Amino acid sequence: MKKTFAVLISALALMAAFVSCNNSTIQVGIVLPTKDEERWIQDQTRFQEALKTAGITAEVLFSEKDSSKEKSNVETLLTKGIKVLVLCPVDSASAAASADAAKKAGVKVVAYDRLITGTANVDFYVTFDSFNVGAAWGEYLVSKASGQGNNLYLYAGAASDNNAFIFFDGAWSQLQPKIADGTFVIANSAEAIKLKDKAQLTREEMASIIGQITTNWNPADAKSKAEAHLTAANASQKGDVFILGPNDQTARAIADTFATDKDIKSYKITGQDADKASIQYIIDGKQSMTVLKDTRTLVASAIATAITFAKGETPASSKTYNNGVVEVPSTPAEVVSVTQDNVKAAIVDSGYYPAADFTGLQ
Ligand code: GAL
Repeated sequence: MKKTFAVLISALALMAAFVSCNNSTIQVGIVLPTKDEERWIQDQTRFQEALKTAGITAEVLFSEKDSSKEKSNVETLLTKGIKVLVLCPVDSASAAASADAAKKAGVKVVAYDRLITGTANVDFYVTFDSFNVGAAWGEYLVSKASGQGNNLYLYAGAASDNNAFIFFDGAWSQLQPKIADGTFVIANSAEAIKLKDKAQLTREEMASIIGQITTNWNPADAKSKAEAHLTAANASQKGDVFILGPNDQTARAIADTFATDKDIKSYKITGQDADKASIQYIIDGKQSMTVLKDTRTLVASAIATAITFAKGETPASSKTYNNGVVEVPSTPAEVVSVTQDNVKAAIVDSGYYPAADFTGLQ
């Protein structure tokens, strides 16, 4: 929390310094993937709040989960003369064409939250530490399991989103030793069972697992997949179960499905994004944990990065992410695990959401 606040303060200080030494405005184009998910509405709201004081002009457009809509959004913004493009791709690979078009127009390209892959034309990656998101899920499930033979159901994000791989990689780093030693038994992925003794998976191996357990980041897909898994499961695969839920929206759909199966005695399920609906689920004991990715931090970092590029400078980076063509510099932001135990401190006392948005908060 302290670290998050420090990043926020330094980003605000940077903005103030820029505004005071340069009165001209810069144009930043921000493209987010969809309005259908609370996660991206959070980002939009936080951008609107931060832009009020940032001293720059910016426009936010949504791509309706459609790569061609995303491409035309980018073209619209390029026509408006933006200097920096902040793009969260619907599909990490398809977005390369937009990055290339921006570069051709002399515009700096910042991948926002999701990496743009397969092109040299990405200047920076503003992201959370997605490996640690997955590791937090794994750690949580491991901490709740005792004895041998605990049933584990795996779910993942969309294979078109590079993050789905990083999240899964982080989760596998914690879960695999506990699958190999028999603490967990995978109930719903033959591919994952095949690879259970392998500590480090290649991208292709992860793709084979994700192909079986993807939710496509879509709650309807998550629900029908969970229903199919429960229909196929035998009695010994039910009882007390552990579920790797890939984000809050899909975790709620999966949790609701498991909750209605009379042979499921209890379930533990992970998530991410601190959706308000999932914070309420955590308070009510219907979702076990989420990972808070403080969008205020990411937004502040995106704006600071854009300002740095507009000044002709290079943003500081602490690590790089390989996008298949180049190493993209980044300074990943930390994430916070949230359970019933710290939900009040992490979500309400931190000022992320007001207490009045929830019921039953202790
Ligand atoms: C990921 C993002 C998550 C989640 C998901 C679904 O790329 O990092 O926060 O919301 O997409 O949109």
